[in-house]
Amino acid sequence: MQGNFSYHNPTKLYFGEDAMSHLVNELRSYGKVVMLSYGGGSVKRNGVYDAVIAALKEAGKTVVEDPGVMPNPTYEKVLEGCKLVRDNSVDLILAVGGGSTIDYAKAVSASAYCVEDPWTKYWVKQGSPDCKTVPIGTVLTMAGTGSEMNGGSVITNRKEGFKRGKVFGSELFPKFTILNPRFTMTVPHYQMVAGFFDIMSHLMEQYFAGKADCTTDYINEGLMRSLVHSSRIAAKNPQDYEARANVMWTATWALNTLLKCGKGGDWEVHQIGHAIGLVTDATHGMTLASVSLPYYRHVMRDGLHQFVRFAVNVWGVRPEGKSDEQVATEGLGCLEAWMKEIGVVMHSSELGVTEQNLQQVADAVLILPVGYRTLTREEVMEILKESM
Ligand code: NZQ
Ligand code: ZN
Repeated sequence: MQGNFSYHNPTKLYFGEDAMSHLVNELRSYGKVVMLSYGGGSVKRNGVYDAVIAALKEAGKTVVEDPGVMPNPTYEKVLEGCKLVRDNSVDLILAVGGGSTIDYAKAVSASAYCVEDPWTKYWVKQGSPDCKTVPIGTVLTMAGTGSEMNGGSVITNRKEGFKRGKVFGSELFPKFTILNPRFTMTVPHYQMVAGFFDIMSHLMEQYFAGKADCTTDYINEGLMRSLVHSSRIAAKNPQDYEARANVMWTATWALNTLLKCGKGGDWEVHQIGHAIGLVTDATHGMTLASVSLPYYRHVMRDGLHQFVRFAVNVWGVRPEGKSDEQVATEGLGCLEAWMKEIGVVMHSSELGVTEQNLQQVADAVLILPVGYRTLTREEVMEILKESM
């Protein structure tokens, strides 16, 4: 391990088929007015909404309904949520849904009482809240982002032309999260496998950085192996509880700040994915799937030792009699085969990237000076072209 770090995660988790039974008690720790934020209606169709309402009633809460959080939540929607919070003096935001609903809840919490322009303060200047924030609780219905146990809030601002992430500090982490794998069973197949790849991407973004021998990487490799194993089962049989439960648990640990301990992190695949999402509104995990192989093949030689380790420790590639480059290439081949097996999108053109909007996508990519190689604008374009 190298460097200095502190580790603190304030989110309390309840995991398993009985997890919802803890919601009433958790709700009792907060004030009377609860804003119930959710997406486009899946929670009403699968019964999760009714279960949440029952708990809210039992806890004697006044409910402020806040439906319609869209995938890739917009800044306009965040501002509407802020008004609801202020008008109703909301005491707790209960986000019920996937990463979009939870990210949105964090954005509303930090922005409702912000006296400056929240977009500029948080998503452009990456500042921290110095105003009152509203506590958040979550009931997760889709495994992928890790938003249920982190401070991330990714918001799309079409007027400004950016999809940007802000990682808030522990004051914006959910206070509690209910993780019932059964709630993920109704996620459509496309969204489910997009979530699987999002998890893998979070693991890889943190793995492909640094040169030191680091315990964190061994934890990461274990999570990758578990994900590959369980995702294969779940892709074939989405009703396999054990596999879905393992995936849900892996997703939470893949991005709850543990795996960055002693590590730098890359996150360039996410920046390219966000630019595709901004222009096409495509599903987050699929944007990452479409650019990952071209990106990793591009930077492989710069971080060769780690790509070799990835091949051997995650995919079981035998290194004997092969050059490092051969081993690393074989590892990426295994990644490709797994992606095809679970059925993610392999080309950005399938998501709506065209010759016409390619430049717009490339211009919206934020280039981060981390990872094994800092890309040039030309390299971003090259990777995007290869991804089509
Ligand atoms: O809106 P509803 O009707 O609920 O339908 C949703 C939505 O259409 C549906 N869904 C969710 N749970 C379901 C379900 N349908 C049936 N049954 C269920 N149980 O799935 C669709 C996608 O939901 P969404 O919340 O958008 O998915 P996801 O969890 O992948 O979140 C994506 C957002 O999170 C951001 C992404 O950029 C994107 O905006 N991210 C957040 C991160 C963080 N906070 O740390 C990190 C990630 O890298 C990511 O950037
Ligand atoms: Zn992601």
